[in-house]
Formats: sequence, C-alpha cells, structure tokens
Amino acid sequence: MRLKKLCMIRVHIVLMAVMILPAASAINAQINAEVSAASDQRWFGGPEDLEFAAKLWNSMSHAGLLENSYRKTGPRVGTHPHGALLESYKETISVNGAEGTVVIKFSYRGFGASYETISANRAKFLEDITVMFKREEGYDTENQNWFYAKYYGDGSLDATPNGVQLAGRIAKGKPKGCIACHRKAGDFLFAF
Ligand code: HEC
Repeated sequence: MRLKKLCMIRVHIVLMAVMILPAASAINAQINAEVSAASDQRWFGGPEDLEFAAKLWNSMSHAGLLENSYRKTGPRVGTHPHGALLESYKETISVNGAEGTVVIKFSYRGFGASYETISANRAKFLEDITVMFKREEGYDTENQNWFYAKYYGDGSLDATPNGVQLAGRIAKGKPKGCIACHRKAGDFLFAF
C-alpha cells in the first residue's frame, strides 16, 4: 500500500516535470526518473565517461565537424523527442587512438526558428548537440557498443535534473532513455 502510494507520487512528479519543463528537457526528466538507485548511475556520468566525452568533443572539433561550414545541408524538420528542426551527420573519426563511427545531431529551437533564420545564425537557435560514437567491442556488446552524450554548444554536458551528466551508456537497462529508444531503430540509428 505504502509502496503504491510512493509510486503514485513519483508518477505525479514525473508528469509535472514533463508538463513544466520545455520539450527538450523531457528526455532528461525521463532519464532522471529511470535513474533512481545510485547503482544505476555507474552506466553513465562517471569519471571515465566524462573524460571520454571531453576527448570525443575535441576530436569532433579538430575534424571540423562542429563548424557551420561543415553543415551545408541546412536544418530539416525533426522527429520527437529531439528538436523540431535539426541537422544530423555521420562520419568516421579517431577518439583516444581508436577509429569509430560518430553521429552528430544539432537540435534547434526558439521563436522565429526556420530553415532560413537557423542557416543564417545557428548559434542563436542551437539548443543541444546529441552524439553517438561507436566504441570498441566489449564496451556495451548488447547495445552495439554506442557511447552517448548530450552537449551544449560550448562542449559542456547537459545533466539529468538530479545532476548526473549525460555521457556514457545513458539509462542502460531502463525502459526509457537514449538506449531504450534507439534500440527501436534496429541498428540504433534512425536517420542513417
Ligand atoms: C523516445 C525516443 C528517443 C530518445 C529517448 C532519444 N532519441 Fe535520439 N533519436 C530519436 C529519433 C526518432 C531520431 C531521428 C530524428 C530525425 O532525424 O528526425 C534520433 C536521432 C538521434 C541521433 C542522430 C542519429 C539517428 O539515429 O538518426 C543522435 C546522435 C541521437 N538521437 C542521440 C540521442 C541521445 C544522446 C539521447 C539521450 C540523451 C537520445 N538520442 C534519446 C529518438 C530518440
């Protein structure tokens, strides 16, 4: 009975969070709700994850993948839960001495956001940059060894409402979050 009540409270909190926060934070709130026990957090947001996320950002930056000039196609209409307008690219880069596929997705939002206004000033409308990088065999075998990260435009990491930074095997084993949803794409990639 008591447990049931607690669950109800949790559901309400999650619902409130989803209603109050802008759509972009919906993913974070979802992940936060799933990361209830401290033991779950070892899959992402740990020191190794943060170090790797910084190296990944540097590699993408050095390869020129974060430059406006690289994003020639311009934004297109995106799919829930990511930005209403987005651009995504798939490349091969080297991180920490190992080559792997990287998929970068830029999400844009804001009053007046359109193909033209975003193309003219991406920084103004950029909301976040979500990235998947294919790591070495054994990193996460049952999930095709993808490393996930959600960055802001300056390379800092977004975090769940309870402060766990979004880098690593995000919400592994949980019914919602990056991995649970991307699994549905079969090969874990929706647009490629
Ligand atoms: C509820 C489902 C869902 C969740 C949760 C989700 N994504 Fe996605 N993601 C998608 C869909 C659908 C697309 C394709 C968007 C498009 O191109 O229109 C996508 C696209 C992407 C892409 C571009 C590669 C591709 O598959 O097309 C990356 C990178 C990405 N997501 C990263 C993340 C990260 C990191 C998280 C967690 C912080 C996350 N996603 C959470 C559904 C989801």
